[in-house]
This record gives sequence, C-alpha cells and structure tokens, in this order.
Amino acid sequence: MGVKITESVTWVGIRDWELRTFHGEEYSTHRGSSYNCYLVRDEKTALIDTVWSPFDKEFVANLKKEIDLNEIDYIIINHGEVDHSGALLQLMNAIPETPIYCTKNAATSLKGQYHKDWNFNVVKTGDKLSLGKKELIFIEARMLHWPDSMFTYLTGENILFSNDAFGQHYATEEIYNDLADQCALYQEAIKYYANILTPFSALVTEKIKEVLSFNLPLNMICTSHGVIWRDNPAQIIEKYLSWADNYQENQITIIYDTMWDNTKKMAEAIKKGIRAADSEVVIKLFNAGKTDKNDIITEVFKSKAILVGSSTINNGILSSVAGILEMIKGLAFKNKKAAAFGSYGWGGQAVKIISNLLKESGFELINEGKKVMWTPDENALKECEEFGAQIAKAF
Ligand code: FEO
Repeated sequence: MGVKITESVTWVGIRDWELRTFHGEEYSTHRGSSYNCYLVRDEKTALIDTVWSPFDKEFVANLKKEIDLNEIDYIIINHGEVDHSGALLQLMNAIPETPIYCTKNAATSLKGQYHKDWNFNVVKTGDKLSLGKKELIFIEARMLHWPDSMFTYLTGENILFSNDAFGQHYATEEIYNDLADQCALYQEAIKYYANILTPFSALVTEKIKEVLSFNLPLNMICTSHGVIWRDNPAQIIEKYLSWADNYQENQITIIYDTMWDNTKKMAEAIKKGIRAADSEVVIKLFNAGKTDKNDIITEVFKSKAILVGSSTINNGILSSVAGILEMIKGLAFKNKKAAAFGSYGWGGQAVKIISNLLKESGFELINEGKKVMWTPDENALKECEEFGAQIAKAF
C-alpha cells in the first residue's frame, strides 16, 4: 500500500523481501530490495517510475487503490531497466494514451524491451513539466548507470527523484534513512556503489557537481531502491563524492582459492607477515570459492591493495578466482596495488596468469608474486611472511 511522503508525494512501490539475487545471479541481495515509485499530485498527476515485472499486477492493483488510473496525466520513466519499467505493459493496457516522459535513450530501451509504440515524450536536461503549482525538472544522468538514466526534480517539495543513484538493495519497513538500521543501510549503499557505479565514478563526480551548480534546494532524495534520504540528504551525496574519488581505506584484502590447503597456508602466512610489518592496516582474507562475490568486491573497493592467490590447475587458475578477477576487471578500479601468489605441484602458471590479469585490470603490481612448489614447509612459510611484509611496506 502507498505511503504518504509529503503533501503531494505518495510512495507506491513494492518491497521485495525475498529477493536474494539481482541482475540474474550477478548481484547478491542479502537484505532483499525495493522498487520505489512515486505518485505526485498537483493540478496534474504524475507517476514516477514503476516496478519489476513479477510485481506488475500487484503494483497496478495497489495503484488503483490510490488513484483512478485515468487521473494519471503523465508517466515519468527515469530509467528503462526492467526493475523500474517492468509494470509498464500492465499499466499501459489500462491507460494506453498516457504520455511517457523519458530520455531519448530510455525511449529506445523501452521500445526495444516492450515493442510498443507508446506516446513517448523525449526530454533533456533543463526541460520542465508543469503539474500546476509545482514543476518537474528533468536532469539527464547518462551512465548513472545506463545511457538512458535521468533524475527528476520536484519544485515546491524540493525532492530529487534519483532512480538508481544513491540507492541500496535493501528491503526495509522503515522507509526513511534516519529510521533504518544505519549499519545495514551503509553496508548496502557502499556495496551498491562498489558493484554497480565504480566504473562510472568520473561521471558520478561530474553529474553531482552539475546538479549542485543548479543550487536547487534539497529536502529529500527519493531513490528507486531502498530508503528515502530525508534526514540530511547531503550525507549520501558527500559519500558518493568520496567513493567516486578513487576511494580507499587503510585495508589490504587477500583473496584466494585452494585445492589442498597449500595456497590457503600461503595466504595465512602472508597475512601474518603483513601484520608483523604494520600493526594498523586492516587485513581481510576471503576464500573466493566460499564467499559471496559481491561482498568480496565491496572489500576490494575499500582496499589500497589486494593479493590474489590460486593453486595452478590445468595450466590455469581456479574458476572462483577467475570469476572474481573478471568482475574486478569490469569494474575498472583505480589507484590500487596488487600482487599474486599460489602453490603448485607441476606447471605453476597461476601466479603469472593472475599477475597479468591484475595488470590488465589497472592495478599496479607490487612485485612478480610468490610461488611455492608443493606443500609450503617452514622455510616457504617464512618466505610468505616476508612477502607479506614487503606488501605492507609498499605504501
Ligand atoms: Fe534499478 Fe538500473 O535498475
């Protein structure tokens, strides 16, 4: 059911408590998600965004309890991805002539997904749509995170409808940021940034600066996932500016997978060596085969360096390590150091393969990596500790 946000704005979204993966299996959603959309009533009424298609009937049924659908004058689609446009087919069956306001790219994406010739009205940054006393102002937000994304600003109420930006995959009954569990909120917000927005960081900074230059008063940021930022909404903007600026903490993350625990023994010895050389650096250690990949990516995002280890198998590397390295490559992290390690019995190619992949992904290699043949003995473990100390001293 709807939640009244302000005099003119009602949340009409869906909370998806059961969701555990998003984008197929690419993104884990330990805390579910929500598909937020909003009804804005003035002399005219606008609906901003819809919900994911599995919830289309529930969404339209709920919406009918809020408003006669024929009283919706405009539909605003800030972003065409199916988690926000998926209920359009169901909705447009009821009100097929209603104009849809979106960017040129969003019109292309909606036509490509739904194959309908709806009444599209293409808007650009600065275009306005009067609702009566209040206006909607459109701001294109290309690549945040799709080429079709835009923000919509509501005058009078001073609300930025930011769609995916500033969102979190977080289903919570507490709809406002100040009421939500703060640890969960920030964990989901940084995970969302790290896993979705990292490659577009330069554009994030540019867009935020552009929006700030408009000097629009801001009472709330209404995102399309997770909480509404009503208490000091600038806090998440400041976080985004910080996260977009080659963010890192004093952290080294060790990621490995292991066949017979030999690479694991190396990982732990390396950790011991880092700690002996630096008592303050945060060290985190993850078996890539046993840890959620998006949680690992969040830790990579926070790290100043990562160490990646794998046994050698079939002249290559273990599949879990290959998978996480593919994700790391796509996210185009900047300003981070790295090194590889691994045990082997015969070929021993893993360290070179990992080093090459890290280099291709934009990491500065600290050294050529550490290989150990067979089970590391006391001497080899000492060497791993020295390798760890060398990593710690690379800063
Ligand atoms: Fe929440 Fe890009 O969709």
